[in-house]
Amino acid sequence: MIEYRSIEDLPELAGETVALRGWIRRFRSSGKISFLVLRDGTGEVQCVFVKNEIEEEVWETLDSLGHEAAVSVTGVVRVDERAPSGVELTATGVQLLGASEDFPIQPKEHGTDFLLENRHLWLRSSRQIAIMRVRDEVIRAIKDFLHHEGFTLVDTPILTGAIGESAGTLFETEYFDLGTAYLAQTGQLYVEAAAAALGKVYCFGPTFRAEKSKTRRHLTEFWMVEPEVAWNDSDDNMALQERFVCYIVKRVLYNRREDLEALDRDISKLEAIKPPFDRMSYTEAVEFLQANGAEIEWGSDLGAPDEAKLVEGRDVPLFVYDYPKGAKAFYMKENPEDPRTVKCNDMLAPEGYGEVIGGSQREDDHDRLLERIREEGLPEESYGWYLDLRKYGTFVHSGFGLGVERTVTWMCGIDHLRESIAFPRMMQRLTP
Ligand code: 4AD
Ligand code: MG
Repeated sequence: MIEYRSIEDLPELAGETVALRGWIRRFRSSGKISFLVLRDGTGEVQCVFVKNEIEEEVWETLDSLGHEAAVSVTGVVRVDERAPSGVELTATGVQLLGASEDFPIQPKEHGTDFLLENRHLWLRSSRQIAIMRVRDEVIRAIKDFLHHEGFTLVDTPILTGAIGESAGTLFETEYFDLGTAYLAQTGQLYVEAAAAALGKVYCFGPTFRAEKSKTRRHLTEFWMVEPEVAWNDSDDNMALQERFVCYIVKRVLYNRREDLEALDRDISKLEAIKPPFDRMSYTEAVEFLQANGAEIEWGSDLGAPDEAKLVEGRDVPLFVYDYPKGAKAFYMKENPEDPRTVKCNDMLAPEGYGEVIGGSQREDDHDRLLERIREEGLPEESYGWYLDLRKYGTFVHSGFGLGVERTVTWMCGIDHLRESIAFPRMMQRLTP
């Protein structure tokens, strides 16, 4: 039986004869010598075939291979300082495992629609591989951080009976005899219940919003991590977000530098992400925007152009805190110092990447929460259990949601969320 090796291990195998399995990234031949770039998910290596040093049959097989065909290659590992990984393969054998004729994605400019239509194949490109690896690191960093900080993961339901964020962006589905179920917009209400059991908890899963906007920042299905902490107030909440984001950035820089380089990311921008982050109240933000010619009135939510203006010239993220009640969700705690506002924050990333985190202290007063549910016209009967949390041992608590795709897009320095997830879901895209 052949023992196949991984391309990433080749530098330690110099001089040895090895067998590899993978897909053909590129192939070119001068007629006497052929260069086949093989990719196996762990790396890429150039396999060099010299016509008069190999069997004729091998040379003939080479000629029939298409771009992205699956093959196995045998040869001797040779150190070559010019090669990106420091090694090449002096190849002697090749075997076709899975043919590929007329691979749709060619080394030329394709439109984004075409690429998205072929997302299942586009994923094999170097750029997409780098993005997926950064995404994986972001997710690992999230889990490691929370684990080290003593958080317990609590999985929350995707099919829900209560509206978590806003009625405007719900996906609905019929649910047997019980009427309408909604796909979760957030797991927050459930982690609030779990925080009263376990103290520091988080949920991490896909969330759904029927966003009719076609912006580069919105998906209809995205992944969100939502930590929730008993006894944290809004300031503690921001301090936690700051440490959390710094840790994620550090991990990406430490473990995925090569991928960031492959993406031409300006790494110095990420190296500048250090505490303390900037902080500005919503009211200060509106004053600043008005002084800089924006049309905004106190009371309305900040738009993407407002956010961009606020972070201009900043190297670190900006917390905007204490928004007007009317601009935010029903569950946020009324600010005792200014009841027109709620104890909440958005975290805006630098370089115009916009809101990466939304967080708040939660309303812990039963009657005020009930009043907010009524004001928003939410179906009171669905929130009985949520109100119970304020009836049986209510407690100060805060939490936030960090959007994985927004974070990955920022880390990678790419333009659009659609490349930050393997199979993006948007208003006009349900396949592949
Ligand atoms: O600000 P949001 O709506 O907050 C919540 O859902 C709270 N329940 C979180 C909490 O306090 N536990 O969303 C949080 C984050 C945003 O900052 C953004 O990063 C991301 O989720 N997000 C989206 N990402 C991609 N596509 C969308 N349509 C998104 N909507 C929100
Ligand atoms: Mg938000």
